[in-house]
Amino acid sequence: MTIFARVAGTGSSLPDRILTNQELESMVDTSDEWIQSRTGISERRIAAEGETTCDLAEKASLDALDAAGVDPQDIDLVVLATTTPDQVFPSTACLLQERLKISNNSPAFDVQAVCSGFIYALDLANKFITGGNVKCALVVGAETFSRIIDWTDRNTCVLFGDGAGAVVLKADQESGITSSILHANGAYNRLLHVPHGVSKGFDRVQAGGAFTQMQGSEVFKFAVRALGDIVDEVLEKEGLSKNDIDWLVPHQANIRIISASAKRLGISLDKVIVTIERHGNTSAASVPLAFDEAVREGKIKRGQRVIMEALGGGFTWGAVLMVY
Ligand code: UT7
Repeated sequence: MTIFARVAGTGSSLPDRILTNQELESMVDTSDEWIQSRTGISERRIAAEGETTCDLAEKASLDALDAAGVDPQDIDLVVLATTTPDQVFPSTACLLQERLKISNNSPAFDVQAVCSGFIYALDLANKFITGGNVKCALVVGAETFSRIIDWTDRNTCVLFGDGAGAVVLKADQESGITSSILHANGAYNRLLHVPHGVSKGFDRVQAGGAFTQMQGSEVFKFAVRALGDIVDEVLEKEGLSKNDIDWLVPHQANIRIISASAKRLGISLDKVIVTIERHGNTSAASVPLAFDEAVREGKIKRGQRVIMEALGGGFTWGAVLMVY
């Protein structure tokens, strides 16, 4: 008997504070026109002082549990994707487990694959469920990326935002995730990175100077190629054609990258879930946030075939194909 990991419920959460392009114009040498035309972003959310990744993850998870009609005690795996954990350790997944009062000693861990983190987390949870070890998993992408942004660097500060998205995955005999593909190539690590951390350049971290650096146009070129290729790869793996896809839920990094993915897939932009205008790039949260909004708006319906895809620092990239 084949077992699938099926999405039983989705949730998301955003900080209250909206940071507009107009406000950024007074912070760095940029313009609303440049940001909108080069990226598709109008505004993004920024976590309040003291508001953490786990706070956002908790709200998104409660939404997803509610939508799935699942009691937290029935969650037997928590996988949380983040680049901006609350603490060095324990993992934010463990902190979340405590917040949700999950006391059944089931495993909980973080995944660090930057913007592809949620795709990596889904793939892992899928393997736990289809392996028969887990019946009900909580998979979260949550970030307070604003904390690792240099707000004087116009190359990066206009792009990113904070948020969280979550799904409850349940073992199911009918349908669910049918394919997933993960890739990484560490040779590209310097094109998009925070070059300091705990065991390297910790003095910079302590001095408050450890921020995201990106060679944008190099990342852009790689992303267009890799995300196009991975869609072909996942379709080929499943023996499906482009016409079999109902929705594309891409990582929300740049509307021009999203449009290129849609073109490669031969689908119009109205079959692509786009939230970048209001969210910016929320790293590991971007795919589950967009997915939750599309489900709640009634766009993505039960039985439809959805491809999720993302690329992030590392580089890491991946795609998941599911019947929702
Ligand atoms: O989430 C992980 C994956 N991340 C991505 O996929 C991001 C990929 N990269 C991108 O989305 C784009 O490369 C950016 C949006 C970051 C930049 O767009 P671009 O079209 O590649 O611009 P560029 O970096 O080639 O810069 C063009 C010009 C430069 O000026 P000069 O040298 O031509 O005079 C930049 O200095 O735009 C300038 N520029 C800005 N101007 C106004 C860069 N940032 C800004 C800004 N406002 N915020």
